[in-house]
Amino acid sequence: MRPSTALIAAGALASGATAENYLGFNSGATLADRSAKFKADFEAEFKTAQGLEKAPGKFNAVRLYTNIQAYSQDDPIQAFEAAIDTDTKLLLGIWASGTDSIDKELSALTKAITKYGSKFTDLVIGMSIGSEDLYRISETGIKNKSGVGAGPDVLLRFIKEYKKAVAQTGLAKVPIGHVDTWDAWTNSTNKVVIDALDWVGVDEYPYYENGKGNGIKNSGHLFDRAFDAVEGSVGGKPIWVTETGWPTSGEKWDEAVPSIQNAKYYWNEVGCRKLFNKVPTFWYNLRDSNPDNTMKFAITKDLSTKPLFDLSCPSKFETGSGTTSSSSGNGSGNGSGNGTNTDSGSATGTGSGTIGSSTSGVATPEPSTGGASMGRGLSAAAIASLALVAGVFALF
Ligand SMILES: *[C@@H]1O[C@H](CO)[C@@H](O)[C@H](O)[C@H]1NC(C)=O
Ligand SMILES: *[C@@H]1O[C@H](CO)[C@@H](O)[C@H](O)[C@H]1NC(C)=O
Ligand SMILES: *[C@@H]1O[C@H](CO)[C@@H](O)[C@H](O)[C@H]1NC(C)=O
Ligand SMILES: *[C@@H]1O[C@H](CO)[C@@H](O)[C@H](O)[C@H]1NC(C)=O
Ligand SMILES: *[C@@H]1O[C@H](CO)[C@@H](O)[C@H](O)[C@H]1NC(C)=O
Repeated sequence: MRPSTALIAAGALASGATAENYLGFNSGATLADRSAKFKADFEAEFKTAQGLEKAPGKFNAVRLYTNIQAYSQDDPIQAFEAAIDTDTKLLLGIWASGTDSIDKELSALTKAITKYGSKFTDLVIGMSIGSEDLYRISETGIKNKSGVGAGPDVLLRFIKEYKKAVAQTGLAKVPIGHVDTWDAWTNSTNKVVIDALDWVGVDEYPYYENGKGNGIKNSGHLFDRAFDAVEGSVGGKPIWVTETGWPTSGEKWDEAVPSIQNAKYYWNEVGCRKLFNKVPTFWYNLRDSNPDNTMKFAITKDLSTKPLFDLSCPSKFETGSGTTSSSSGNGSGNGSGNGTNTDSGSATGTGSGTIGSSTSGVATPEPSTGGASMGRGLSAAAIASLALVAGVFALF
């Protein structure tokens, strides 16, 4: 066996931060009715996550999509306070698409640093500059009208600006990443982004890999194939799985069927077998917040600590290495297919799929304009609200 990526990472990180195999969920800035989440809402989530029955580890980390409190100009998101009160680790995000400036994000962040100091910064385990921006400008993303994205040049500029902004703060040593779909990472044009990062975030949804034998029994293989492809492209940089999951209810997607039973299978075969306590993992998801998506991913109902299925991990797995025995496909596809569109008719995945977390967030507010047309010229306020809408999709 070769050493885990995380171990290699630990040595490679300039930050001196210990690489840990964090466990967490994704959390947007708004609720299912699109109202803002406040401190109490985040706190309820974080407490449930930490108290989940039979969890295979402590889910005491959370991935956010923006630093800005929903519907505010640049107030720090109240998730920060909830995290401080519940000792929840923070993977932060800066919204990077459809904007020439991340000033509002940086302003919210700076305010939080001033206000909470190290109580806040000590909880921050990572910063993602952008989310699925490269996917949205990829061929599949464009074809699927996934919304406005941003190219490597923009991401590089924002990374630089972010670094400058936090250089003298408690966030200076926080490892920087970017989250995208797996095929964004295997696209050589995007290698310049990889080179600028401390870690690489991947959103992977075998569920949405239509045309590739995406029945549940093949989900582990589809996941592995995409993960391995990313691993082969990132030159030893640590990989964090920033979104993955299987819906418990909703419509079928090619051969993929949502059900609690299948969500449990996926939890076992992808979560337990491949990720938990091995790779930093942010599961999708603890609670559903997107009213537009008929597929529901929450592993529990109404934030109950008693999940919809048994979270404990088996000692044996069905997914072997190599080929699959599934009747639903042998996993021979090359992973370049198109994947997903769950919410709001905007987000579409790539091979490994994306349910749009922030992806669809951008396109959704103006469905009629479609993707790229909404790009330039959006006010910062609009961007902030896009970012917060984006958050919604993190929770449907
Ligand atoms: C590869 O990445 C570049 C830059 O992000 C993008 O313009 C291009 O469309 C991508 N290629 C494919 C096949 O999507
Ligand atoms: C986007 O991808 C989905 C999933 O494969 C596909 O069904 C849909 O037709 C695509 N949309 C466009 C506009 O190509
Ligand atoms: C898997 O199926 C593809 C076509 O569906 C076929 O070309 C390939 O040989 C099969 N591979 C295995 C290992 O069965
Ligand atoms: C492999 O990729 C090519 C182009 O990237 C695509 O046309 C083809 O359908 C893919 N094959 C499979 C089995 O996914
Ligand atoms: C997605 O796949 C389907 C079936 O292969 C194809 O008809 C459709 O055009 C694809 N869409 C994109 C965006 O590639």
